[in-house]
Amino acid sequence: MSGGGSGPHGALADNGFAAAAEALWREISPAWPDFQVEVLREIDSTNTELMRRARDGVAARTLLVALQQTAGRGRLGRSWRSAPGDSLTFSLAWPMSPHDWSGLSLAVGLSVAQSLHERIQLKWPNDLWVDDRKLGGILIETAAVPAALAVPGSRERVAVIGIGLNIGLPDGPDLSQPPACLRELMPQVLPLDAAWVLQRVVPALVQALERFPTQGFAPLADAFAARDALRGRSVRLSDGRSGTAVGVAGDGALCVKTDAGVQRISSAEVSVRPDAGA
Ligand code: BTN
Repeated sequence: MSGGGSGPHGALADNGFAAAAEALWREISPAWPDFQVEVLREIDSTNTELMRRARDGVAARTLLVALQQTAGRGRLGRSWRSAPGDSLTFSLAWPMSPHDWSGLSLAVGLSVAQSLHERIQLKWPNDLWVDDRKLGGILIETAAVPAALAVPGSRERVAVIGIGLNIGLPDGPDLSQPPACLRELMPQVLPLDAAWVLQRVVPALVQALERFPTQGFAPLADAFAARDALRGRSVRLSDGRSGTAVGVAGDGALCVKTDAGVQRISSAEVSVRPDAGA
């Protein structure tokens, strides 16, 4: 772990993360002895770092937390900006070999939402929303386990699951539509800091990752529907299509009713927005 400096995989920790890192390592490592936790003051991106390691042949289950990212990345090539103290930025590297990867970001989002608050909604495919404002996002990437380390014939890859959550709102220019933040959503939790949130979300997330390869997204579809931020709303897709979101299928595809019938959207390259004013 890291944090206390006493575990088998020492690293550094700060800002209240030491106790959270220690507790998480104690909770998760009995089932997964390769599990390690690292908290870094600064890195370009926790996803970039875990992808580098995976490509270099490091396939250990790793939770990497950064107090600050200098080149945080979002989906579709966007950047992810976050302020130390006002955000939680972490990635989890987890070897997996599901037959079907679709729906993984939905399973991850659902797990995080369920761990935190009943009012958190999920916006297909990877956003956490509160009242139509973005609370957080998920970026999932995968790397092949290098051939020298892979079990011959295995389909195993290392999934790198990156999560950014707004803890508070940074000072700055007034935005007409500020993002959502957890301190606003859970004012009764004092102090609500990133370490508290980390400790709250990671154990259930690990369980969700363990279930996903055998169960997929289908058994989670009803729970997702209860938090679906788009269902029943007019939506516009980045590829020009528009219609009414009618839910998410058991394989994770967004279903949109258009003039041409119900279209299934599964491409990670497409983004979707509720129609302004709808
Ligand atoms: C999105 O909304 O487009 C996804 C945002 C994902 C941000 C997290 S922060 C931790 C991890 N490291 C990154 O560079 N990105 C993810």
